[in-house]
Amino acid sequence: MNADIKESFEKTRIAGSIAASALDEVSKIIKPGISTDKIDSICYEFINDHGAYSAPLFYRGFPKSSCTSVNHVVCHGIPSDKILKEGDILNVDVTAYKNGWHGDTSRMFEVGKISVKAKKLIKTTYESMMKGIKILKENVQLGDIGSAIQEHVEANGCSVVQDFCGHGIGQAFHKEPNVLHYGKKGTGDKIKAGMIFTIEPMINLGNYETKVLNDGWTAVTKDKSLSAQFEHTVGITKDGYEIFTQSKKFS
Ligand code: MF3
Ligand code: CO
Ligand code: CO
Repeated sequence: MNADIKESFEKTRIAGSIAASALDEVSKIIKPGISTDKIDSICYEFINDHGAYSAPLFYRGFPKSSCTSVNHVVCHGIPSDKILKEGDILNVDVTAYKNGWHGDTSRMFEVGKISVKAKKLIKTTYESMMKGIKILKENVQLGDIGSAIQEHVEANGCSVVQDFCGHGIGQAFHKEPNVLHYGKKGTGDKIKAGMIFTIEPMINLGNYETKVLNDGWTAVTKDKSLSAQFEHTVGITKDGYEIFTQSKKFS
């Protein structure tokens, strides 16, 4: 591994581990009756206390430090005084920026007791992200990743959102390549050792279509069906990959 790649992996590992630990902190307080603003302030404080910045804050005008996407919100939900209630599911997405490098991750959380179908959606979404990750190594094609995810999602009767994708990440928050969560095996660019990108499938219980609300950020399912998402930041090596946003407490 050359020195530049080694340095980029080391720095992303640090930013990624702060982001993952921020989600561990959030997991301790999620229960019916708390607001998404409370979640956001825990993310803000944890990330700042670890010498990092929250990359979403003021990114293209985004007003908060995290995205909190509840129930039929697909992604980019804006934290607010909205109170979580028993049975809600939500994604919390955080990005830490430290020493010039980014680590981006998100997870699903259950508020109290949730429905069987919500549990199944969350399980399918997590498994699909891991199916996309487990095949990673130099020269795998981007279409191979999308197809591994899509196949698993559709086999479980759910649909893959097409309007948002994973992305290269590093000194920039979002950069090339676009990592689509659907596609055909044997198509698309070959990934190379040293590349760092996210895999972050958004999966719907109903139709794949989304729309963005008037706030300019909040993306929701058009049919109001539940949506789930997980995200890891990964680095590619000659024979495999490293997950930079793995938590010791959550697998
Ligand atoms: N963290 C999101 C992603 O996975 C991006 C959020 S941008 C924001 O790429 F402005 F909405 F915060
Ligand atoms: Co991302
Ligand atoms: Co993210």
